Amino acid sequence: MTAIDPRALRDAFGCFMTGVTVVTTVDGAGNPLGFTANSFSSVSLDPPLLLVSIANKSANLDAFSTGRGFAVNILSERQKDVSATFARPVADRFSAVAWRRGPVGAPLLDGVSAWFDCTLEQAIPAGDHTILLGRIGAFEDSAHPGLGYYRGAYITPAATAAQLPTGPDVVLSAIIELPGQVLLVDDGRGGLSVPMARVGRAGVRAALDGLFARLRIEAEPGSVYAVYEDAAVGAQHLALRCPLAAPCTPAEGAFVELSPGGLTDVTDPALLSMLQRLAEETRMGNYGTYFGTHQHGRVKRNAEGQTR
Ligand SMILES: Cc1cc2nc3c(=O)[nH]c(=O)nc-3n(C[C@H](O)[C@H](O)[C@H](O)COP(=O)(O)O)c2cc1C
Repeated sequence: MTAIDPRALRDAFGCFMTGVTVVTTVDGAGNPLGFTANSFSSVSLDPPLLLVSIANKSANLDAFSTGRGFAVNILSERQKDVSATFARPVADRFSAVAWRRGPVGAPLLDGVSAWFDCTLEQAIPAGDHTILLGRIGAFEDSAHPGLGYYRGAYITPAATAAQLPTGPDVVLSAIIELPGQVLLVDDGRGGLSVPMARVGRAGVRAALDGLFARLRIEAEPGSVYAVYEDAAVGAQHLALRCPLAAPCTPAEGAFVELSPGGLTDVTDPALLSMLQRLAEETRMGNYGTYFGTHQHGRVKRNAEGQTR
């Protein structure tokens, strides 16, 4: 066996796509501390445990490994700058973000995809890092899509949307969401549907922007929820989740509950089954993406830890 080159190993670790988090705690004087980390992993549901590793050379190692606890803030796709701030040696990283103390006590950042506020269960020395094992005392997730990290670069669902198929045969369905609700519009055939648009040559992002402008809403493209072909009409369907940051009144349609009662007027069977899956997955907090045809396909579960 040849000796392992740490730099080559770091590059190889970078082939694994991860989310990006900011791990926070408070020091003895109550000052907030935090650093960017992608070593986060879920560990156990019962008891609720997670882990993240911190470099032993961190000036804040003591505060994190001997303190009462810490929080893991899963950054949303709009928070690349927050990731950069908490990865640089800046004097006061918290002056650039809005934050508050969590129920267990660690700082929680505004606008994150999810947060987990933990007590420190164990600090386990592990090579040049220390594993912080946390017991989750409180958590919350939101509709904001998470920020991804792959081979040293940030990945956002919005950037991914820009690379999706284009052309007149691609029909885009926008699942515009508020927590537990989805926007439905008149489908022109006496029923309801999610807002749709033909993609055209300008691409998915342009089609979505046109749709958002028509509805007079401010939304962001989130994750791909379904990709399927409808051979009967020769179209490829692409459904994207588009979470809204705040309630609004759209120029068309209305928000309905993601429940059997709210979806009764959805007449297209493929759309209805997609929205029923969304209702179920929202309840379970575990999402997948459908690939297939109008009638048959399979749901690929998102990687563990990616809950949107
Ligand atoms: C995407 C990304 C992921 C990172 N993941 C970790 C990590 O898991 N653990 C860690 O100790 N540092 C990680 N770092 C590096 C720290 O954020 C960086 O060294 C920071 O300056 C440490 O701050 P501190 O010295 O104040 O603790 C990561 C940086 C980036 C950009």
